[in-house]
Amino acid sequence: MLMIFQRPAFIALPLVFLACSDGGLPPEYRQLEVPESRLSSAEARRSGRELFLAHCALCHGEKADGVGRRRNLSSRPADFTDPFWRQRVGPRDLYQVIREGVKGTAMPGFKALSEAEIWDLVAYISSVAEEWSPRDRSD
Ligand code: HEC
Repeated sequence: MLMIFQRPAFIALPLVFLACSDGGLPPEYRQLEVPESRLSSAEARRSGRELFLAHCALCHGEKADGVGRRRNLSSRPADFTDPFWRQRVGPRDLYQVIREGVKGTAMPGFKALSEAEIWDLVAYISSVAEEWSPRDRSD
């Protein structure tokens, strides 16, 4: 008896995921050019950290772990130190949330920040999960 194994699904699935990764964004954000080299620079992360402490830590926590001084928010902000959270979001998603906020929640939009400042914030937020990876934790 002749057995033929065909596995098109194994090849097709990863392609579908790639194609959908920015699918939920409004068109103007889907097209955004991501400044990759700036995002991975130490300078952008440092400047993003300063902006974060000034504008975001009150709700998102000084350690960016979602535990800020402001409590009883509409919903609990994500823990940016969580590698699983980090895997779910791309730089364009973060840019869009910071600029537009999340409607119907306590997360405000930061339209007064410049494009460069928002990308620096994205650089910092995206780097937190690397710096606080589980193996570095003492607990
Ligand atoms: C007044 C409180 C508050 C401030 C200030 C604030 N946030 Fe948020 N943020 C929230 C809340 C609450 C959420 C969760 C919204 C939801 O339920 O989707 C959120 C969500 C987010 C998200 C989406 C991931 C998540 O937590 O679900 C990002 C990214 C984010 N904030 C970044 C920032 C940055 C960067 C700043 C500063 C420029 C900032 N936030 C300032 C309250 C705040």
